Amino acid sequence: MTLEEKIGQMTQADQEHIRNLADIENLFLGSILSGGQSDPKEGNSLQAWTNLYDRLQQHTAKTRLKIPLLYGIDAVHGHNNVLGAVIFPHNIGLGCTRNPALVEKLERVTAEEVRASGIQWAFAPCVTVPQDARWGRTYEGFSEDPELVRQFAEAAVRGLQGSDLGNPLSVLACAKHFAGDGGTAWGSARVPIGLGLDQGDTRVDEATLRRIHLPGYIVAITAGVGTIMPSYSSWNGVKASGSKRLLTEILKQELGFQGFLISDYNAIDQVDRDYKKAIEISINAGMDMGMVPKRYREYVDDLKQLVREGRVPMARIDDAVTRILRVKFAMGLLDPKRSQLADRSLAKTFGSAEHRQVAREAVRQSLVLLKNSHRVLPLSKTAARIHVAGKNADDIGNQCGGWTIDWQGRSGPVTPGGATVLAAIKKAVPPTTPVTFSRDGTGAAGATVGVVVIGERPYAEGSGDRADLSLAPEDVAAVDNLKSAGIPVVVILISGRPMILGGVLDKADAFLAAWLPGTEGDGIADVLFGAYKPTGKLSFAWPRSMEQYPRAKDTNPLFAYGFGLTY
Ligand code: BGC
Ligand code: BGC
Repeated sequence: MTLEEKIGQMTQADQEHIRNLADIENLFLGSILSGGQSDPKEGNSLQAWTNLYDRLQQHTAKTRLKIPLLYGIDAVHGHNNVLGAVIFPHNIGLGCTRNPALVEKLERVTAEEVRASGIQWAFAPCVTVPQDARWGRTYEGFSEDPELVRQFAEAAVRGLQGSDLGNPLSVLACAKHFAGDGGTAWGSARVPIGLGLDQGDTRVDEATLRRIHLPGYIVAITAGVGTIMPSYSSWNGVKASGSKRLLTEILKQELGFQGFLISDYNAIDQVDRDYKKAIEISINAGMDMGMVPKRYREYVDDLKQLVREGRVPMARIDDAVTRILRVKFAMGLLDPKRSQLADRSLAKTFGSAEHRQVAREAVRQSLVLLKNSHRVLPLSKTAARIHVAGKNADDIGNQCGGWTIDWQGRSGPVTPGGATVLAAIKKAVPPTTPVTFSRDGTGAAGATVGVVVIGERPYAEGSGDRADLSLAPEDVAAVDNLKSAGIPVVVILISGRPMILGGVLDKADAFLAAWLPGTEGDGIADVLFGAYKPTGKLSFAWPRSMEQYPRAKDTNPLFAYGFGLTY
């Protein structure tokens, strides 16, 4: 291979920033991604995505070596950028299932839906171990407990990659963000994103880093994970994306990682003020492929010069390219007998009832019952009237959270299919049981029971950093309004993390933590009406007040890690 061909393999551009598709062949690009907002120009349908994938892939046929592209996307809870995909609960809820086998199964479904669009690489699983729920990425973690993360990391990698990466229904997995992304100190972020937890500095000694933040990677490697994404965050002041200690000495040499490292979105830019210097540091530290969404030309030119100037050794380039091609080989991308275009027959099962059933099962098992006075739950399907309330009762976008259709997620009917909590309740009861709804909880007098669905609105990454996790005044008001009707009140909290409940817990007769359940609200109705008895256990300790941060779990929490009632 020529130097240009090698550097091309080490380059990942974002399709939305490729102005001329001939760049794919002219620069020998090895990979393309779609970032959180990078949809096909024709829209978000499966067909539009599949056409986009095929169009880009066809360009590689024009190169001398005809090495196919790896196309990567954030399929972090189902194929979540695509309209009509099944959206699974975010990882925080999956951690509460304590059921890694179920997660392996649902990642098989995700892999199949991703493959339906032709895409062969998911930037998942996120094996972060969030230590401070004020962080906007808390919900991307299975648990604050490294042991639980370890179990789910292994299951998720096995689910996505299947038993053989070469299987056309397998998807290349990516454990992220290496290492310590969930351990940053408040206010430590150098870039003014969020409030300074996201992309910040993890100030712990090496023993602590290893104990809390590495177990997920160790099992992911054993399970054969093909890629790992170094973090935006720093470890004791050194950016992970430029740390030779982390990337080469620990990950590759000590842990024996044989796959390749993909940088986070523009993360190399943060390694040094001078871009060329940043590339030098990062590649020499062990980065194998740059996620360089927009600056890919500059990156290619700079890296070429760095090699010519002897600042990046040819041996490092060869190591990176060998790693990338080994993964492509294992995936069957280099098999000339195999078409690399999308398998359009997979459209049949995309978003299918069968796939939704797996998500519904995950939702049921992810719910954690925190309170159930006077056996309010399960509800009777033949109640005289059920009054439903709250801003999250009839909002599939809020139910799905961030990384759903849009990077940040969005309120409202963001995707077809599935059911909101309100719709699911209506479906679950016979037509003779009236279900009424008011967003603010008024008009409930005379109902047998009130169900109020409150909580967060979607966010992703640093914009979800919060100094205060108290419930919103409108949520508290909705609970108060139901309560003043003199009926039993069931509170369902939709949130990416434990919230400070204040007086709401006392007012609630029953309280269910539903996390970010995704599209299948039917799983919530299953628990409300007793078709499924709750089994979920907290994957995070639940604090009483903000004063307990950052060490919520060590300070007499409201509900301990592992808590969860049943009936
Ligand atoms: C992209 C996301 C990316 C983020 C990083 C957004 O514009 O759409 O994919 O994660 O930028 O800052
Ligand atoms: C996020 C990653 C994601 C990448 C690509 C970044 O901003 O930190 O988790 O995989 O964008 O969208």
